[in-house]
Amino acid sequence: MHSGNVIFTDLHPKTSDTRQEILAGLAQQERYINPKYFYDEQGSRLFEAITELDEYYPSRTEIGILSQNAAAIAAACGVNCVLVEPGSGNCEKVRSLLDAIAPKVFVPMDISSSFLREAAEKLGSDFPWLQVHAVCADFNTHWHDMPELPAGRRIIFYPGSTIGNLEPDAACAFLAHMGEWMGADGGAIIGVDLHKASDRLDAAYNDEQGITAAFNRNILSHVNRLLDAEFDMELFAHRAFYDSDKRRIEMHLVSEQDQAVRCNGSVLKFHEGETIHTEYSYKYSVDDFASLAQRAGLHLSQSWVDEDKLFSVHYLQKGPASPQGL
Ligand code: SAH
Ligand code: AVI
Repeated sequence: MHSGNVIFTDLHPKTSDTRQEILAGLAQQERYINPKYFYDEQGSRLFEAITELDEYYPSRTEIGILSQNAAAIAAACGVNCVLVEPGSGNCEKVRSLLDAIAPKVFVPMDISSSFLREAAEKLGSDFPWLQVHAVCADFNTHWHDMPELPAGRRIIFYPGSTIGNLEPDAACAFLAHMGEWMGADGGAIIGVDLHKASDRLDAAYNDEQGITAAFNRNILSHVNRLLDAEFDMELFAHRAFYDSDKRRIEMHLVSEQDQAVRCNGSVLKFHEGETIHTEYSYKYSVDDFASLAQRAGLHLSQSWVDEDKLFSVHYLQKGPASPQGL
């Protein structure tokens, strides 16, 4: 699809593997659904509503950091870059940077097809000078199938602490992949939520209006469509808590009663209290994130943190950090 300054390419990330992947997760001792399945159209809308909640400080804090430091971030990116955002959602955050960075092309990449298309169209009409090439893809598997992009320095924009939804080894592998894709002269702007007192985090994932609960439960409605299953969302409760030793939020769905769920031609039995694990959201200190990046062959060349030390944004480049003072 092509309209004006916006191109849309769909790599159709939800394939027959989807069914196998979800079934395998649900068959495990600790039942599991990959968090990427939160994001059908309704899930993307619910996440957008989460970002507007009083309790969910990460989005507004990160936008504050990006806006205040846009000039320094743009200077790090250089002129005429190719800017790619894996997991772009509503494309809200890049708006704080676009005028300063003025990229040659912006490539929002997301698994949630219709929501991505709408967000890209809106961005393209609000920034008529910008070339937008939206790609519906799974950012864990589709880097090599990316459509041809213009030559230019490659910068990855990965805000939202979406990196925290990967377990540390997977996050490290993802960063290493990013390093390959961006090449020797590229860079990455990554937003990372910081480790902090549990009460603040518990509140952020257990909002009073129950939007996070609806977001969590919505994964079952998406699975119902993908697998021809019959989960009753009303019979699963939202549970989220911060494990401050492991420095991660855990999100689960808890079966409210003994129940049998028809799923892909067979039946899954749940005991009352049995859970399906749906998400981790790891939190880091700046030093811990620097170590993770180092393991992936990258270094933090600049870091920005808000004054309440809630959230961090980093500019990463390839290779080890240069010795101080040189
Ligand atoms: N970057 C935005 C949105 C973050 S929410 C922000 O900071 O506000 C995470 C986004 O990543 C969602 O839009 C979701 O659809 C997308 N996403 C999650 N897993 C994905 C995957 N494996 N491949 C592509 N997109 C994914
Ligand atoms: C997208 N991701 C970084 C969000 C997070 O905070 O881990 C998803 C989310 N889950 C519950 N609330 C928000």
